[in-house]
Amino acid sequence: MVKAVVAGAGGGIGQPLSLLLKLSPYVTELALYDVVGAPGVATDLSHISTPAVVTGYLPADDGMKKAFLDADIILIPAGIPRKPGMTRDDLFKINAGIVRDLVTAAALYAPKAFLLVISNPVNSTVPIAAEVLKKHGVFDPAKLFGITTLDLVRAETFTARLAGGCPAEYKVPVIGGHSGDTIVPLISKATPAVSFSTEKLEALVKRIQFGGDEVVQAKEGKGSATLSMAHAGFRFAESVLKAVKTGSPVTENAFVYLPGIPGGSELQAAVGVDFFSSTIEIGPSGTTKVLDTLAGITEYEQGLLKVAVEGLKPNIAKGVDFIVSAEAK
Ligand code: 2OP
Repeated sequence: MVKAVVAGAGGGIGQPLSLLLKLSPYVTELALYDVVGAPGVATDLSHISTPAVVTGYLPADDGMKKAFLDADIILIPAGIPRKPGMTRDDLFKINAGIVRDLVTAAALYAPKAFLLVISNPVNSTVPIAAEVLKKHGVFDPAKLFGITTLDLVRAETFTARLAGGCPAEYKVPVIGGHSGDTIVPLISKATPAVSFSTEKLEALVKRIQFGGDEVVQAKEGKGSATLSMAHAGFRFAESVLKAVKTGSPVTENAFVYLPGIPGGSELQAAVGVDFFSSTIEIGPSGTTKVLDTLAGITEYEQGLLKVAVEGLKPNIAKGVDFIVSAEAK
């Protein structure tokens, strides 16, 4: 029995994400929560002839508690999206409080659940989540993930467009964070191997780093990536659920708290930040290992990494401070 929760299920990402989870054979119970719309989305999805039983909740009548209670996996896409000209950091003011409250519910009602944070700015919302979980004495770094899978999805797609072939055949690790130049695509580690001129390589890297902006601009003020983000969030969730179901480890990339995971302290010492997206191994109880993604990276990639770390530091500090300074008051 696997209970999945989508917090923010009425929104642009939440709806397609809930649909994908309803279609998944790994999910037996799907609880949808949002401040508006979740019961309607739940009733709609409940007519689909797959086993998952779908329920929808609003804040009234203890809806948050009912949705989160004893969940196995909680996906959080809740919050406002970007408009043209905004960075992910501009969303902090509103989304920080939303994530804090949802993670508080997770800590109280489903402290052992896998927590997948999609709400932006991921570079700050994941540190917020960690601090909230710590405050409640239930922080398990192996089960907290910032979802950066869309950066890998974009890297696979754009690399294939340039090199030829099917995107699904490519694997391209992307490390760092999930925002502009904190995103570090490691094209030198792509499989199959690719080779581009400096000009093409730099354009490819920029396109992956700022791929989200392409969508924000194309949607002309009506939001950011929702469908590709839902696909990416689901791809990660399904990997975790597969590890739980089969007992065999899976390899993924996610923004995690390095010191809490075997192999993470070495990477933390090398990059100088606590939270970082790296290639990780996930087993049925969560992340078991941070894999060495830095070995053999090119000088150009080392330069990208340096810029990324400088961008990540204030993002992480802002998230931690949001909870820690509120506590001190
Ligand atoms: C993106 O990368 C929405 O953060 C998401 O487009």
